Amino acid sequence: MSVLAVKLNRLSLANPILVASGTFGYAKEMTAFVDFKKLGGIIPKTVTPQPRAGNPPPRTVETASGMLNSIGLDNDGFDQFMAEKLPYLADLGSSVIVNIAAKTNDEFRRMADVLNAAEGVAAVELNISCPNVSGGVDFGTNPELAASVVETVCSAGPLPVIAKLTPNVTSVIPIAQAVADAGADAVSLINTFQGMAIDWKKRKPILGNVLGGLSGPAIKPLALRIVWQVAQAVKIPIIGVGGIQCLNDVMEFLVAGATAVQVGTANFYNPGLSSELVSQLAEVVQQEGVSNISELVGTLRTDAS
Ligand code: FUM
Repeated sequence: MSVLAVKLNRLSLANPILVASGTFGYAKEMTAFVDFKKLGGIIPKTVTPQPRAGNPPPRTVETASGMLNSIGLDNDGFDQFMAEKLPYLADLGSSVIVNIAAKTNDEFRRMADVLNAAEGVAAVELNISCPNVSGGVDFGTNPELAASVVETVCSAGPLPVIAKLTPNVTSVIPIAQAVADAGADAVSLINTFQGMAIDWKKRKPILGNVLGGLSGPAIKPLALRIVWQVAQAVKIPIIGVGGIQCLNDVMEFLVAGATAVQVGTANFYNPGLSSELVSQLAEVVQQEGVSNISELVGTLRTDAS
């Protein structure tokens, strides 16, 4: 096994560096900047059963060390994804983790059935945490509903299932526990924090949807805290996401308890970062004298010594 290979229950990845859904398009846009073959995996923009136009503009705004988005799951729909996007993605030489969102268990099941029968899909990531659409977080804020959708998708076939959870709850731990018990292979922690931006002179919110999801370096300490807390409490592999922009950020997530990470907002201003991180990670493994990167996962010490 290569020094960077990681395993998240049924999902094996060449290395722990993934790119986050919604920050990498459907990869084609990134061709000039990224060596796709180097990545541990690509998670394209969330797909929904039907096409969605998304929310009214403006849909993004830069904030201190971050950005707010209120895209609203703008996408061309599942059928179009399967016919036109997946064949291209599946040919890139990296693991493709298809991110799906839906309003009902039946809709999730129908997409999961098709994905399980398709070529070139490594896993399914369930977006039960989008703060920008009506009902987008309903599944992700209630442990029973979160468990039911995971069970539904797991029962569709052998594809590994990852639940992407929201931080916009009192505690992520009961939700992570529920999806682990329901058979999820891993959890992605975390999606964006709900926030807003205001033009006070106009007395108006800046985003057309009023509220949006905050991402980027501003949320990294919050994401680390949640990864660490969940890692202490729930025995399920974690994919850390939130503000990663350099190798030290990756390592912080790994020692906090994440088996893999997703690079998100940084893709917008440094699209080559993810593939650079893979090379840098190989050097860390050598420097740390371990035989596999996984040996560093969860090695954070909180004792006084
Ligand atoms: O609005 C959006 O499309 C964002 C999706 C998400 O945060 O999951």
